[in-house]
Amino acid sequence: MKVISLNGKWKCSPDLNDVGIQDKWYDLSKFNELQDLLEEIEIPSSFNLIQKYSLYEGIFWHFFEFKLSKDDLNERTNYRLNFKGCNYLTLVWINGIFLGYHEGGFTPFSFDIERKILKEKNFLVVRTDNTRRKGQIPDLAFDWFNWGGIYRDVELQLLNKNRVENIQIKTNLITSDEWKISISFTVKGHLSINWKILDGKSGNIIKEGVERNLEKKGHVSVTLKEPKTWSPEKPNLYYLKIASIEKDKENEVLFNQHFGIRQIEVVGNRILLNKKPITLKGVSLHEELIQYGRTIPTEKRERDLLDIKSLGFNTVRTAHYSHDESLLNLADKVGILILEEIPIWGKFDYKNPRTFILACKMIKEMIFRDFNHPSVIWWSVGNEIPIENPLVSRFIKNLMDWARKLDDTRIVTYVSYRIFSDICRRHADVATINFYFGWYFASVKQINLFLNIMRIPAYNKPWIFTEFGAGAKYGFHQKLKKFVKYSEERQLLTLEYSIRTFNALDHLSGWLIWNYRDFRSLSRQNKFQMGFNRKGIVSEKTFEKKLIYHRLPKIIEAKRKIMNTRFLGLLIWLILFPIVWILTLTIYAPLLNLFERNVIERGKLKEMKRLNLNQ
Ligand code: GCU
Repeated sequence: MKVISLNGKWKCSPDLNDVGIQDKWYDLSKFNELQDLLEEIEIPSSFNLIQKYSLYEGIFWHFFEFKLSKDDLNERTNYRLNFKGCNYLTLVWINGIFLGYHEGGFTPFSFDIERKILKEKNFLVVRTDNTRRKGQIPDLAFDWFNWGGIYRDVELQLLNKNRVENIQIKTNLITSDEWKISISFTVKGHLSINWKILDGKSGNIIKEGVERNLEKKGHVSVTLKEPKTWSPEKPNLYYLKIASIEKDKENEVLFNQHFGIRQIEVVGNRILLNKKPITLKGVSLHEELIQYGRTIPTEKRERDLLDIKSLGFNTVRTAHYSHDESLLNLADKVGILILEEIPIWGKFDYKNPRTFILACKMIKEMIFRDFNHPSVIWWSVGNEIPIENPLVSRFIKNLMDWARKLDDTRIVTYVSYRIFSDICRRHADVATINFYFGWYFASVKQINLFLNIMRIPAYNKPWIFTEFGAGAKYGFHQKLKKFVKYSEERQLLTLEYSIRTFNALDHLSGWLIWNYRDFRSLSRQNKFQMGFNRKGIVSEKTFEKKLIYHRLPKIIEAKRKIMNTRFLGLLIWLILFPIVWILTLTIYAPLLNLFERNVIERGKLKEMKRLNLNQ
């Protein structure tokens, strides 16, 4: 396969009145007419990085002309236009021909192009629309910045008509020291291949073989005795290399990617990695660096992962969506476990069948892209959804069943924020809870009792405390013992007490701080936030490390003496469960929805006033 990058200097224009389609902006003649009105943009990058569009949400057109050589335009080739990530609704034309559209902001998509459409000089037009709408995923309101446009790589793939695709590598332990490596793939056309498994460090061939006269699909099964397994401590990698065997021609490499030999499973209330219990200790991370938007340079992503690992963490939750695949390649190499998610966040249009189909498509795109990354150990189908509602519970259960159908080798779950009124936990592989004791609710001193109350609804599953945290404005210190909100001292107290309690409780299989870095969110507009969610352990500048950051290496394994409140927890659960569930369903959740409805709009107005933007 030959890959031609289409990154570079494109032209662009907003389309405030949505006239682009009717005025045929996708046509070369119109483009030439519009030339002087168009601006330049470096692709990949979000148009929100252009100052005057910093808060723009809407339709944005991107234009690019590129050449192909006579050799590229041969008959032996299939052509695939590949986008690694555009937000949110993307329509694509090439040489005036409409190729199709894609909905979703965080997963790759591609269009096969017929040879006759391509020329030596080609005109590519991409219309993106990041308007927030009910029924989309995410829906109208969410707690991150809505970076829009073509923010990940664009490339033209020149594919051999005879090739392999959708390669999936499964690895599992079959005896105490033997592993089975199962490689399955689809075949386009007709071909024979030779395959090699190579040691990731030495490059030595571990196993190889030939498969002849393949059509439609292929399968290779290999047994390895005492291989070098993958784990955060020892992220050993192998390479799978597949080449075509064609008469009197040199073998063309069709696939060459790393993979890891590891097995993740849930046994009782423990998560096992390669048959050993593991406790997930980590942070959530949004895909954002202010100066780059979501188009983060690989070395900056690597710096984040190495920094997170240096603090003693072994897990990162890529909140609340798939990040660029380069992060997963780094996590495979550095040795960090990754928890991935599709962006069903909070309130969403669960009564609309279209939403369910869209969610299934996003899950498939995420799993198909990331199946072979050993660092990825779980798929989450949503975050903080109104799971007290039986219709939502069934929607989420069906999504988890779909994810398991696509991948039976990983943990499948959703992330909950309901202690008493979550009626879907029994269908998830692990029990999760987001709760901000000492920030949104109660005091951090009550965390032990609540953790014992939660022992019951886990149905003997592994409990992961998926989010806890506290906001702090970097540099704001509180001398008095009041620990006022948004002081670094208050954040330190809340997080340290929580971590010491979590570590002291044997029924927790993991906890993750919300969040690694402060991130943009229009709904966060008080004098400390100023358009940012301040729960990071570092500020949005990354080099500004808050007090908790420096404390973490000393407390990440620390425990505190706790009272045994198991019986009291059981009693409270039995009394409160039915009452809280009914109240949540009938009063609390509907009221919360009313409040959340236009929280971003209100925040946007405040931000515009502060930035003196009269957009
Ligand atoms: C929720 C949610 C996050 C949000 C966080 C917060 O748990 O999952 O997306 O940013 O709370 O309130 O800071």
